[in-house]
Amino acid sequence: MPSEAAVNRQWILKDRPKGGNFEEVLELRESAAPDAGEGQIRVRTIYLSLDPTNAVWMQYDSYLPAVPLDGPMHGLVLGVVDQSNSPKFQAGDLVSGLGRWADYFVTDGQGWAKLPDIPGLPLTAYMGPLGMTGATAYFGLLDVGRPKEGETVLVSAAAGAVGSIVGQIAKIKGCHVVGIAGGAEKCGWLTGELGFDAAVDYKASGWRKALRAACPKGVDVYFENVGGEITEAALDLLNIRGRIPFCGAISQYNATEPPPGPKNLSVLVAKRARMEGFLVLDYGPRMGEMYREMGPWIAEGKIKWKVDLDQGMENVLTSFRKLFTGGNTGKLAVRIGEEPAGG
Ligand SMILES: NC(=O)c1ccc[n+]([C@@H]2O[C@H](COP(=O)([O-])OP(=O)(O)OC[C@H]3O[C@@H](n4cnc5c(N)ncnc54)[C@H](OP(=O)(O)O)[C@@H]3O)[C@@H](O)[C@H]2O)c1
Repeated sequence: MPSEAAVNRQWILKDRPKGGNFEEVLELRESAAPDAGEGQIRVRTIYLSLDPTNAVWMQYDSYLPAVPLDGPMHGLVLGVVDQSNSPKFQAGDLVSGLGRWADYFVTDGQGWAKLPDIPGLPLTAYMGPLGMTGATAYFGLLDVGRPKEGETVLVSAAAGAVGSIVGQIAKIKGCHVVGIAGGAEKCGWLTGELGFDAAVDYKASGWRKALRAACPKGVDVYFENVGGEITEAALDLLNIRGRIPFCGAISQYNATEPPPGPKNLSVLVAKRARMEGFLVLDYGPRMGEMYREMGPWIAEGKIKWKVDLDQGMENVLTSFRKLFTGGNTGKLAVRIGEEPAGG
């Protein structure tokens, strides 16, 4: 199929970042869009998801190999198939998967999924509560944390993409829900709009005391997003048989020195508690469960959600920085291209 020779803007990773110097190691370059080869599809990016873990992918091998230098940065994409040489996809299909920080890219479609057709939801819902973010919150809390009615669930980075959904699912399950977030505005959003029972501003003085007061019966499930001092404060409050779904540790992703471990980790022994890491990627085959339960919660307004949407490929790095300064509320994403007409 002859190409329309579309221009492709892509962020190229030139070097491994140190201490979060993303602007020095990423460069926006233009070239001709690639054509889909045999068995491949070409995806046009509509929304680019910006995720804390992208900083890890830039630096070293983790659960995924590090992004190769001098190639386009990798990222989760919601896009539209605009060329298909694959029997599994047709031009016009709306899809999501691991793509590139680029207008266009080609893939063999492995790991790519067509979006489910749930009426009445904007496409951005599949970036947020019904995408990777929602799945992380849903499976991390319910499968790993296993909260019971009446228990206290504490979540850090609570006004962020994952945390804001975790707290609301825990409320639906009948828990006492406490969020930790940076700033009075975010805390007000959690208690005022999302129904959290309490929210603690970890940037305010006396926050550890406030946290203790907000969890009068201790903590049964601590949903870990941040690491560092916040982890220590949560461990101090953990109840017997407490559970810690270890989702991430954003405070450490740009560290230039190995971060110190929590001083009080041995609490896990005294409390017969469980800390367990998990990866949303492992839950791919179970996404249907999440759609079935979360879909109605979202449609009925039981779960509120926000996509913090920036605009334009040229603004990707400015937007990405927000994750590490607390500039985002809800799911951070960038609109790269137009949604298909009538889509
Ligand atoms: N295991 C998995 O499969 C999986 C999947 C998705 C995400 N995650 C992890 O889940 C966590 C949340 O990710 P997300 O996508 O939902 O991002 P997010 O919470 O929307 O954004 C990051 C937020 O973290 C907070 N933060 C940044 N630096 C911090 C620091 N030094 N100390 C305390 N808080 C800090 C900021 O909020 P404040 O204003 O409150 O500081 C910021 O807005 C991350 O650790 C991420 O790596 C894991």
